[in-house]
Amino acid sequence: MLADLAVVDSDLALGMPRAITVATGVDALAHCVEAFTNKKAHPFIDLYALEGIRLAGRWLAKAADNGHDPEARAGMALSSLYGGYCLGPVNTAGGHAVSYPLGARYHVAHGAANALIFPHVLAFNAPATPERTAAILEALGLPASSEPSKVFAAAHDWCVKLGCQMRLSTFGVLAADLPAMADEAHAIRRLLDNNPRDLSKADILSIYRAAF
Ligand SMILES: [Fe+2]
Repeated sequence: MLADLAVVDSDLALGMPRAITVATGVDALAHCVEAFTNKKAHPFIDLYALEGIRLAGRWLAKAADNGHDPEARAGMALSSLYGGYCLGPVNTAGGHAVSYPLGARYHVAHGAANALIFPHVLAFNAPATPERTAAILEALGLPASSEPSKVFAAAHDWCVKLGCQMRLSTFGVLAADLPAMADEAHAIRRLLDNNPRDLSKADILSIYRAAF
């Protein structure tokens, strides 16, 4: 389903609880990040993607800390809108594919699932797209790096500080289900085929195990 019209009024988000603010905010960020590092990345969409990442870096923590800050809500509404612009022409990639089974099997909210997976796939993709990975961290206000362990630590720490839940086990996911979840994620070719680095079933399973 694609929208014919979007009414973006950031005041409607005033007072949104912290957990929903950070999960939906990291989801908006993930749309921008996955379009920016996408095999189908396009210079026109890169502008929106990078600005959406910068806005999330500037405003998401403020929106989470004070749910009634209109400037922070406006910044995140723009970040989300720019992330939406990324979806039609480019779309998402590995992060969304790897997060989908969490929703399908365990009813983890879409944003919460994406936030949990986000640092893992960003770090996994770093060797395939080092300059863009460093640019993402820089746009978030974090030290620029494309070294996977540093990328993971910076992005994971950023999510933890926001208050995102970063462990699969806390959502009731069973360790015995991880291989089947990896099979399901690996079958989402419409997104995985956009990913800058091939994610095998074994790669996805090792991400789930690391996140468990
Ligand atoms: Fe999403």
